Amino acid sequence: MKDLNGKTVFITGGSTGLGFGMATAFANAGMNIAITDIRDEELATAKEKLNAITDKVLTFNVDSTDKGAIESAADELEKSFGPLHVLCNNAGIPGGAPILETDDDRWRLVFEVNFFGPLNGINTFLPRMLEHGEEAHIVNTASFSGIHGHGHQSAYGSSKFAVVGMSEFLRNDLADTNVGVSVLCPHVADTPIIQNLKKRVSQDMAKVISDMAVPAETVGNQVMNAILTDEFYVFCDGTHTRSMLETRCNDYIAAMDRQFPKA
Ligand SMILES: NC(=O)c1ccc[n+]([C@@H]2O[C@H](COP(=O)([O-])OP(=O)(O)OC[C@H]3O[C@@H](n4cnc5c(N)ncnc54)[C@H](O)[C@@H]3O)[C@@H](O)[C@H]2O)c1
Repeated sequence: MKDLNGKTVFITGGSTGLGFGMATAFANAGMNIAITDIRDEELATAKEKLNAITDKVLTFNVDSTDKGAIESAADELEKSFGPLHVLCNNAGIPGGAPILETDDDRWRLVFEVNFFGPLNGINTFLPRMLEHGEEAHIVNTASFSGIHGHGHQSAYGSSKFAVVGMSEFLRNDLADTNVGVSVLCPHVADTPIIQNLKKRVSQDMAKVISDMAVPAETVGNQVMNAILTDEFYVFCDGTHTRSMLETRCNDYIAAMDRQFPKA
């Protein structure tokens, strides 16, 4: 997309953290903002803060796993703001523990929110974006845990690998259309999820996490830049994650070289 001013964005899980960082960046760029969440109080607080930037803010208490509710929100949003241009499938929940310590119900819930939530957003809004034909963009929030399998992320990391994979296929589907795609892959961003994590770890580890954490508003601006430059992978830091990315790419090539040595 070339210009965001006056366009409309829908952000799931937008009342706090990265979703709110995106909402702030988009509001500053002159967009009409629609955010969803499942917590009324946080939605009201977010609306109040965003209203300091713009009065074009709608909030919806919508669970991203509820297709019918997303569809209704889409209809209501269009009545107020017209067609949607940017969809940010951002709502997500944690679920990291070794596989044998993660029960089936947790796996299903994590996939329901982190994978099927974005899929619901795509199935609701993409046909409308293709139909209106104006420049549009979809951003799926994955994680660096969906790029490189580090630590013990079991259900969470697996759901985020699925989001990265789905986004790659979506990009293929949408080549030569009016809709661009990006996948957001933060490593550590300073949001309530991370603030809660810091309370559960040692002081030393909490400091390591704090040192790595990127502010949510910075991530919001990174997402906005990715839309404006049509960048697919959005990495939020190039310091703590670079060697993991190199290891993964090198591992692929090394395995292929062992199995099929170059002549
Ligand atoms: N913070 C990080 O370091 C980090 C790193 C990688 C990926 N992420 C991803 O970024 C996204 C946002 O996370 P965050 O760190 O801002 O956390 P957050 O908890 O601040 O924000 C998530 C928001 O989503 C809402 N939510 C949860 N389930 C929902 C549902 N079913 N429907 C609608 N809303 C729902 C929550 O109420 C919350 O407001 C998540 O997908 C998360 O996995 C975060």
